[in-house]
Amino acid sequence: MKPIESHTAEAAQSQAALYGHAQEDAAVSAAAIPAEAAGLQEIDRLDAILTARFAKRMHTDTSLDRRDVSFQANKSKAVYRWYKYKEGFSASLVEYLLNRFAAKAANVLDPFAGSGTTLFAASRLGIASEGIELLPIGQEIIAIRKLVEKGISGDISAALTRWSEHQPWRETRQRVALPELPITRGAYPDDTKLQIESFLAASKMEPPEVSAVLRFALLCILESVSFTRKDGQYLRWDYRSNRRQGQNPFNKGEILPFHIAFRSKIHEMLADLSPGSAPCDLFQQPNSHGNITLHHGSCLGILPQLPAASYDSIITSPPYCNRYDYTRTYALELAILGIDEAGLSSLRQTMLTCTVENKLKSLLTINPDWKAAIRAADDQELLQAILAYLDLMKAQGSLNNNGIPRMVRGYFYETACVVFECARLLKSGGRFMMVNDNVRYAGASISVDLILSALAEGMGLRVLQIMVLPTGKGNSSQQMGEHGRDELRKCIYVWQKE
Ligand SMILES: C[S@@+](CC[C@H](N)C(=O)[O-])C[C@H]1O[C@@H](n2cnc3c(N)ncnc32)[C@H](O)[C@@H]1O
Repeated sequence: MKPIESHTAEAAQSQAALYGHAQEDAAVSAAAIPAEAAGLQEIDRLDAILTARFAKRMHTDTSLDRRDVSFQANKSKAVYRWYKYKEGFSASLVEYLLNRFAAKAANVLDPFAGSGTTLFAASRLGIASEGIELLPIGQEIIAIRKLVEKGISGDISAALTRWSEHQPWRETRQRVALPELPITRGAYPDDTKLQIESFLAASKMEPPEVSAVLRFALLCILESVSFTRKDGQYLRWDYRSNRRQGQNPFNKGEILPFHIAFRSKIHEMLADLSPGSAPCDLFQQPNSHGNITLHHGSCLGILPQLPAASYDSIITSPPYCNRYDYTRTYALELAILGIDEAGLSSLRQTMLTCTVENKLKSLLTINPDWKAAIRAADDQELLQAILAYLDLMKAQGSLNNNGIPRMVRGYFYETACVVFECARLLKSGGRFMMVNDNVRYAGASISVDLILSALAEGMGLRVLQIMVLPTGKGNSSQQMGEHGRDELRKCIYVWQKE
């Protein structure tokens, strides 16, 4: 981030264009500029101090690329490819981190387990893994993977083949009304909706394990047969639906017929489950798998119940402070899983704050022991400068959404409590690896990596490294000092319990 060079709204706009943030985020009135500039300069000054503090431990890791730190690298990996959990990271990243930083770990914890990448990748290396996940879609992916990794019986395999070849739902007259939420109404072409309703009725008549795998296959294809596309903050609707969004019609491309999408998903699943034929064979070392445990619920509630000093390593990626609303983007799946409107809103509020709709949580009511974590956040100067600046921008009516200061505040205070708990849970010498992105609001770059690392240091964790993902512009570690602060860094932080 660079200080504003000229005290004009025009200069602020051109800086917005230069650094790529949304124009409306930077749409400030000329009268607002002096206070805004002072706020930005203070943020810049404190950011520079933290950058200097961690500079020797910040390195661009050229052995990793952004594919590893996203779901991309899982797309061709057996089993991982079944359900595309877009916010996931890759199994190869988990293997890399474990090999490099926790080679002797006997267990690993992931408080934001998502689709279970940490859990399954660690388990394959013989490491016991434990996760916490709030959203039922992540819980379902993990449960079905656990079920099939035990080995799929000939009966289940035969049933899946029969369903793929004979499409038995087409023969039933029974239907289960499609579970919908206001934000998913009209999501499917009429014929697809009818087929899903027949599918739900027919699959219920199968034995429980077959029925569970069929429902999972359905969840895997919902987006591809719908008018919608997951788009971070919300579901985007295709022009063929009867919902119009914005000025420019959106064309999501091919909307697959239901039976074609289903058949191809079952083929993929059966291919991955047949020994030897999968791109990454599940059955190579069946006896060496580490045990996998998943806790359902919020890590804010569950972490304090876990025993102190009991984990060798933690690998996780919390939601980013980027306004992505998982409860909206996964609404098709959550509806099928039985979540109603009230349930959806409760999940949104229970999640780690990352949307402008999140209300502040009463953290000390959840756990009175978090006073120290809250004090650490209160005392973190860069964080406080950012919050003061965002509050000022809100007071001046300069934000494109007034929920932004509350979101950023909630994000850091809640994450401080999570880091505090993780420090308590790690054994001495244990390693904590977190994947996260920096963000920018109203022209202020928010160094999530530096702020969280500074908080971690006050909680008994030593910052070993902040691994910066290459940007594609060839940032070498030497260049980092010069240019690194101009871009929104994507990093993996490696902290160690003292
Ligand atoms: C970035 S994703 C993690 C993806 C995961 N690394 C993977 O590869 O699938 C963050 C996850 O945190 C979950 N989450 C958000 N708030 C939570 C909370 N309070 N407790 C537990 N999980 C939460 C979200 O549902 C989401 O699945």
